[in-house]
Amino acid sequence: MAGDAVTERGNWGSKMAFIFAASGSAIGLGSIWRFPLYVGRHGGAVFVLTYIIAVIFIGFTVMLAELAIGRHTQSNPVGAYKFIKPNSQWKLLGYLGVVTGVFILSYYSVIAGWAAGYLYKTVIGAFRHLGAMGGAETWATSDRIFKKFAADPLQMIICLFVIIFLTSFVISRGVKSGIERWSKILMPFLFALIVFLAIRALTLPGAGKGLAFFLNPDFSKMTPAVILNAVGQAFFSLSLGMGTMLTYGSYISKKDNLVTSAGWVCFSTTLIAVLAGFIIFPTLFATPGLSPETFEAETGLMFQVLPITISKLPGGYVFGILFFILLLIAALTSTISMLEVPTAFLVDERKWSRKKAAVIIGIVAFFFGIPAALSNGGVKILTKWNLMVRMDQVFGTIALAVGALLISIFVAYVWKAKNAAGEIMLGNTSFRIRPVWMFCIRFVAPVTILIVLVIIVYGLF
Ligand code: PFF
Repeated sequence: MAGDAVTERGNWGSKMAFIFAASGSAIGLGSIWRFPLYVGRHGGAVFVLTYIIAVIFIGFTVMLAELAIGRHTQSNPVGAYKFIKPNSQWKLLGYLGVVTGVFILSYYSVIAGWAAGYLYKTVIGAFRHLGAMGGAETWATSDRIFKKFAADPLQMIICLFVIIFLTSFVISRGVKSGIERWSKILMPFLFALIVFLAIRALTLPGAGKGLAFFLNPDFSKMTPAVILNAVGQAFFSLSLGMGTMLTYGSYISKKDNLVTSAGWVCFSTTLIAVLAGFIIFPTLFATPGLSPETFEAETGLMFQVLPITISKLPGGYVFGILFFILLLIAALTSTISMLEVPTAFLVDERKWSRKKAAVIIGIVAFFFGIPAALSNGGVKILTKWNLMVRMDQVFGTIALAVGALLISIFVAYVWKAKNAAGEIMLGNTSFRIRPVWMFCIRFVAPVTILIVLVIIVYGLF
């Protein structure tokens, strides 16, 4: 059965194609918008350090586990657990992924919509006057532009619609080769632009303080909330815990080396996140009148800061446009991967047509996304509840952590770590880090994630 599925479902064109597509899923608003935001909220460099440790020991471990399940079963998440453990409740873990995918897609598209709106604003020159300003006025103006935009119900809903429409369109076409082709060309571009903007930010007068906040850990700021959110951010940014990597892994050829593939995805995602920090923090600290307390509360951090960097750059108009185009594409390669999970489920398990699945889930995600879109000033009560941020906590942190915990337990003790290692070794006969990976999937990952979840439940933070 699994063998036939290979030919029907198709594979990535090459190992590189998988790395680009999986990095396309991983690299997105998580690294560029969410990572700096969490660094700002949770103590600066201690968060960065904890995040990197979480990526290496937990993120990489769980990613390899998801890829192994996917490639072994050649299936969507629900089908995969049914294949390995038939007639058990493990399929519910697949359903959890499908539901989480729809919810993350709904609020994530709101922020992707901000990128679309900011692209438009950059094109019409809405940030040009910031360049001539100095002192606290620059921040105040940029802040005002963002808040006004985020509080405008009509603009928010239109932007949300555009993102969900584009995502559904690509998925309904089944453009696996489209995802491949796009990611291969555009991801290197995004990287080059981010490096360029980071260099500009790092050479702003006063940038050193921002760099210190970002890189020089103050361990007195280490709290349970830092660990919880750093682990959650590792899952979010690496697209783990809901079966996205499992689904993408189901298209990998048996000959490919899963270990180096996962390694590249983890490395490139972390690199982009760190570079995004190199843009945001030096700019923040170089802007008078701001302190970490000011930006702890700012959900739109990146959108308030970037126009400032761009407006102070020769040729900033063009760079601004390019940056928001690429940010939009980075976000879209992620939304596409989110929609792929429920779509693959409905197509494989419920025999829906791909088009019907993509359109209907798109409509559902759009409606779930509307309250989130109106919760940043648009509607008072939703703003007071901070609905979008809450959805991010529930689905983007907790649901992914629960998913990742159950995935590691499933692989380590139900499927058995040695069987998963056997799948991994098909493309990498030596698998030198096998003992380390086995130890991490059996103990390090489940125990750490469990502790983190217990902390949430007891509200100790
Ligand atoms: N990794 C994406 C990002 O960092 O922007 C977000 C994401 C994609 C989360 C896919 C979860 C997922 F399954």
